[in-house]
Amino acid sequence: MEKRIKLHDREFRVMISAEKIEEAISNIAEKINRDYADVECPILLGVLNGSFVFLADLARKLDFTCEVSFVKLASYEGCSSTGKVQELIGLNNSIEGRNVIVVEDIVDSGRSIAYTLQTLRAKKAASVKVATLFFKPNAYKESETIDYIALEIGNEFIVGYGLDYDQLGRELKDIYVTE
Ligand code: IMP
Ligand code: MG
Repeated sequence: MEKRIKLHDREFRVMISAEKIEEAISNIAEKINRDYADVECPILLGVLNGSFVFLADLARKLDFTCEVSFVKLASYEGCSSTGKVQELIGLNNSIEGRNVIVVEDIVDSGRSIAYTLQTLRAKKAASVKVATLFFKPNAYKESETIDYIALEIGNEFIVGYGLDYDQLGRELKDIYVTE
């Protein structure tokens, strides 16, 4: 039976199962394990709120020693990007000389990740790469390389697995899409 839910005013149906998500995360974890086998203690830097589920699952598939930290970037409301990227807050580790893997829930227009990368480079990180659970190639407007992409989707609006619709739906195990 197809699972349907209602969040605020909208109906959603399952688009990607928890099993598919797990498999996709295992695939990028394998690549990250290969690339970081000889890198000195990288920092997994999750961008809150959306990345908390993905980061928790990804981190437990990594086989090297790393630090975990989170930052926050308020830039999105409802179903469409406001285009306003605000400040990166909560960066309390020293980034200088560190190898950073930014962990994002989704890269849409790319404005948020571009701003985050700029900030981390200005703080003199030794290297910065990006791991995202979802990527919307047709919406992407930046030129930054997105190093690790678990799943590519179209321009649909999705919720679940950390992603929200006006703060609801983050706890869902599967990914849902609006009708
Ligand atoms: P960007 O700056 O346009 O790349 O937007 C990135 C942010 O927008 C993500 O970190 C999410 O918080 C939010 N976002 C973009 N697309 C979706 C979606 O389909 N569902 C939920 N949030 C989204
Ligand atoms: Mg986000």
